[in-house]
Amino acid sequence: MLHCRGLSKRYESGNGSVTALEKVDLDLAEGEFLCVLGPSGCGKSTLLRLVAGIVAPSAGSIEFVPGCGRPPGRPRCAMVFQDHGLFPWMTVLENTGFGLKMQGVAGKEREAMSTPVLEQVGMGGFGRHYPHELSMGMRQRVALARAFVSSPDVLLMDEPFASLDAQSRAVLQRDLRSWQEERGTPVIFITHDIAESLALADRILVLSARPGRVLANIPLPPGRCHSPVAGFDPELGAIGREIWGMLGQESCPELQGASL
Ligand SMILES: Nc1ncnc2c1ncn2[C@@H]1O[C@H](COP(=O)(O)OP(=O)(O)O)[C@@H](O)[C@H]1O
Ligand SMILES: [Mg+2]
Repeated sequence: MLHCRGLSKRYESGNGSVTALEKVDLDLAEGEFLCVLGPSGCGKSTLLRLVAGIVAPSAGSIEFVPGCGRPPGRPRCAMVFQDHGLFPWMTVLENTGFGLKMQGVAGKEREAMSTPVLEQVGMGGFGRHYPHELSMGMRQRVALARAFVSSPDVLLMDEPFASLDAQSRAVLQRDLRSWQEERGTPVIFITHDIAESLALADRILVLSARPGRVLANIPLPPGRCHSPVAGFDPELGAIGREIWGMLGQESCPELQGASL
């Protein structure tokens, strides 16, 4: 549904220019879960902003292919960030329906649309609660409900689970995959965590240190169980070691040649 070719992005500022991304090719198929993995500062967030149309590329093209009843042109994107971005003065139900409100959907209908999605993400009983009454994991569940309720054509996720404890993260990874499969929404999921990408992805795009270039494009075995312990599987473990070999050298040159 999405083809990016030769994407480059250079930021110009008073302090000079920074090339964040260089000649990145990225494809996303209908229903696919793509993880983009790379060291800090390599341009991962920039890549997501380019796909979302928030910033324009310095070079290269982004083409969306119409399909599944979707009209031509830019698809509707929903974004989920590390910071859940919920409004503290709104209830869970109001937060979930906020995007719908902006689209002009009436109150009763917003509630009718939001309630089943909150149930799906395990937050059914919390519609009248405020964000400060929830754990971080629960807040991210609400952020996901807010993203899903607008039925986006593509879901863009920027390290959404990076500030969660390991157990909450593992449960949310597993749940996210099952919701994503039920809904068929294609996802671009940014992470710097190899184990997370192995647990979640259909395919992993590995980026180099800045400027981000594609080091590898790795399809993972289809139809596997997206369990939090996926990385313990011998086949995936071997792929993880291979990625470590690439990224360890990118982010810590002193690791060159070290065995892991
Ligand atoms: N708006 C901006 N203006 C100038 N430089 C930026 C801007 N946004 C990001 N950068 C720079 O681009 C590089 C990549 O940033 P980013 O895409 O946020 O990386 P990542 O998400 O992989 O950590 C960094 O060096 C960062 O400082
Ligand atoms: Mg980032």
